[in-house]
Amino acid sequence: MSERAWVAERVNWLREEIRAHDYRYHVLDAPSIPDAEYDRLFHELRRLEETHPELCAPDSPTRRVGAAPIVGDFPAIVHRLPMLSLGNAFSREEVFEFVARIEEMLGRGDIEFSVEPKLDGLAISLRYEQGRLVYAATRGDGVTGEDVSHSVRTIKAVPLALAAGSGFPEVLEVRGEVYMPRAGFLEFNRRARERGDKELVNPRNAAAGSVRQKDPRLAAQRPLAFYAYGLGEVSGGTLADTHTGLLARLREFGLPLSPEIDIATGAEGCLAYFERIGARRSALPYDIDGVVYKVNRIDWQRELGFVSRAPRWAIAHKFPAEEALTTLHAIELQVGRTGALTPVARLEPVFVGGTTVSNATLHNFDEVARKDLRPGDTVIVRRAGDVIPEVVGPVLERRPEGAQPAPLPERCPDCGSPARREEGEAAIRCTGGLVCPAQRKEAIRFFASRRVMNIEGIGDRLAEQLVDLGLVADISDLYRLDLATLAGLDRMGERSAANILAELERSKATTLERFLYALGIRDVGESTAKALGRHFGGLDRIIEASQRLAPYFADPEALNQPATKKAFAAEPLIAVPDIGPVVAERLCSFFSDERNLRIIAAMRAAGVHWPEQDPAQRAAGPLAGQIVVLTGTLASLTRDEAGARLEALGAKVSGSVSKKTSFVVAGSEAGSKLAKAQELGVPVLDEAALLALLAQHEGAN
Ligand code: IVH
Repeated sequence: MSERAWVAERVNWLREEIRAHDYRYHVLDAPSIPDAEYDRLFHELRRLEETHPELCAPDSPTRRVGAAPIVGDFPAIVHRLPMLSLGNAFSREEVFEFVARIEEMLGRGDIEFSVEPKLDGLAISLRYEQGRLVYAATRGDGVTGEDVSHSVRTIKAVPLALAAGSGFPEVLEVRGEVYMPRAGFLEFNRRARERGDKELVNPRNAAAGSVRQKDPRLAAQRPLAFYAYGLGEVSGGTLADTHTGLLARLREFGLPLSPEIDIATGAEGCLAYFERIGARRSALPYDIDGVVYKVNRIDWQRELGFVSRAPRWAIAHKFPAEEALTTLHAIELQVGRTGALTPVARLEPVFVGGTTVSNATLHNFDEVARKDLRPGDTVIVRRAGDVIPEVVGPVLERRPEGAQPAPLPERCPDCGSPARREEGEAAIRCTGGLVCPAQRKEAIRFFASRRVMNIEGIGDRLAEQLVDLGLVADISDLYRLDLATLAGLDRMGERSAANILAELERSKATTLERFLYALGIRDVGESTAKALGRHFGGLDRIIEASQRLAPYFADPEALNQPATKKAFAAEPLIAVPDIGPVVAERLCSFFSDERNLRIIAAMRAAGVHWPEQDPAQRAAGPLAGQIVVLTGTLASLTRDEAGARLEALGAKVSGSVSKKTSFVVAGSEAGSKLAKAQELGVPVLDEAALLALLAQHEGAN
C-alpha cells in the first residue's frame, strides 16, 4: 500500500473511531476510553490532516472549530417547516383540561404521552443532508431563524455526520435544545471570576449567548451540550409510528436524547411524571423549567393538528417561575450576634419559586456594590427550589432617574454606636458589643439554640421580649429569671414558664466545650471550642492563656521582631492545634474584657458547671490509651456527654470503628458501626455497662 493510501485509510479510521467515541460519550453516556486516549486519537488525526491537506473534509471531527468568525449579521435561514412553540399549563387543572380536550377530539381515553423534561436553553434546528450536517439555525420568529452553524458545530454532542449504516433519511431536520449543563456553567463562572472577566447570568442565557457568538472559538470554549426532542423536514416518509419511536431512531442516527424521557398514560400519568421530575429537579445536571407532554401516536398528532402556532397534541407544564421582577423599596440593616450589619433587601412582595418573597439578605455591602443595587430599582429576584431567595441584580433600563446607592452605615441602627469595618473583612460591624440590644438578643438566641445550650422555649420572640423589657441584659441574667416574671410575659402561661425554668435548670450541667461555644466568641465555633476544652481541660486555664497574649496584640509591630515572634509561638494558646493568631486575638480580647468575666462568674455562681480536669491528670487516667466509639441513642445521657466523661477518664473518642478500637458503646438503633465492631471482634458495651464503667472510675478519680 502506498503511504498516501495508508494515511487516507488511517484518517478514515480515526474519524470513525472519534465519532464512535463521541457517540458513546454524548449519546449513550457510556464512554469506553479515558479522555487522554481520546485526545491522543484526536491529535493524531489533526496531525495527519495538517500534513495531508488534501484529505481534509468539512465533517471531520477536527473541523468543529475551523469556521471563520461571522462578520455582520448572522445569515437568515427560512425553516422548511416552521419551528412551533408550545402552549403552557401552570396548574393540574390545566393539564386535565388539555387531556380532556384531546380525549374528546379523538373519542377515546387512556391516551399515551411521550413525557419529557422541558430543557431551559435555546431551540435549534439541525439540517442533515446525506447524513452531513449542513446547517444549524435558531428558531428566530419560527419561520426565519439565524444560521449559527459555526457555533453549533463546536458542540461535541452535535454529530457533524450521522452514524454510518443507521439508515438515516436523505434529508433530516432534527430539532432540539442547546443547553449548558449546570456544572459547566459554575465552572465557567469560577474561571471567569478568577480572571476578573464577566460572569454568565444563568445557564439559559449562557447557552443562548454562546451560540450567538460570532467567533466560533468562543463558543468552543463554552461547555455546551444538546438534546434532540423532535423533527422538522424529513425525506422519504415516516420514521416511526410514535414520537418515542421516532426519538429512538434519532438516537440510532447518533443524536443525544435526555435520559429522562418516558411514556405516561392519561392526565394522572402525566401529573405523576411532573411530580417525579419536580422532586429531582435540583439534582438534574441541567436546568429545566417544566415538562412537556406529547401525544405519542403520530397519526393522532396529525388528527389533532394545530391552533395558531402551537400543536394541540402537546403542552408545556411549567414549574412555578424561579425568577420574577419586583421593586427594591429599601436596603435595611440587620444586626447579627457579632454586630455584623447585614444589608437586607425590602422588596415589594412577589410570588416566585412557589412562595411570596418580601425580604432577601444581600450578605454584605461589597455584594450590594458589585450588583449595583439601588433603592427604587426594579430587580430580578430568584428562588430556586428550597434555596433562600436571592436578588440577582437590577434591571438597569428601568432604573428611576436619580436613584442613588444606599450609603454605607456609619452607626448601628439599633443602638447608635459607631459602625466600623475591620481591615480585610467584608462585614461592617456595630461596635456597641453587649450595649447593643440587637446583639444581646442574638447572643441570647444563640446561647439557647438547639446546637448550643439547647434550652427549649427560648426562641426569637422571647429573646426579643426579655431584652426589650430590660429583664435580660446578658446571657447570665437568664439564670436569674423566676416563675412570676416569666409567667407574666405576653402570651406565656404558667406551664410554659415552668417548663422554661426546668430547661434552664437542666442546662446548668454542661461541658466545658459547650459552654465555651455558648459564650459566642467570634470565630470560636464548635470545633475550636472542642480543641480548647480538650487541650486545657479547664476554663481558668483558657482564660489565663488568653490574657497572657494581651501585650503582643497591644503592640502588633513587636511581633515582627524574631525574639518576640518566637515567644509568641511558644505561648500555650498558640500551641493548641488549629488556633491561629486571629482566633487567639479574639479569645484574648474576649477574656480581657471585665464585662465578659463578670458574666462568666455570674453563670458559675448561678450553678452552671462542667467537669474540669487537668490534662496532665487525664493522660494518667484509668482509660488512658483506650480508643472508644459511641453509636446509637443513649437513654440517660447524650453521646456528647458520654464522650466528655470518657475523655475525662483519659479515653480518646473516635468516629469510626477499626481494629484499633478498644470498645464500642452501642445505644438503641445502632447501625453500621455496631455491625463493624461485631465483624472485627471489637468488644461492645451497652448503656448499662457504660454507666457502670463510668461509675467505677469517676468515683475513684
Ligand atoms: S417540543 C411543536 N420538547 O420549549 C413542539 N420543546 O415552549 C415544539 N423545549 O421552543 C417544541 N424542551 O425550545 C419541545 N422536550 C421538549 C422541549 C422543548 C425544551 C423548548 C423549545 C421550544 C420551547 C417551546
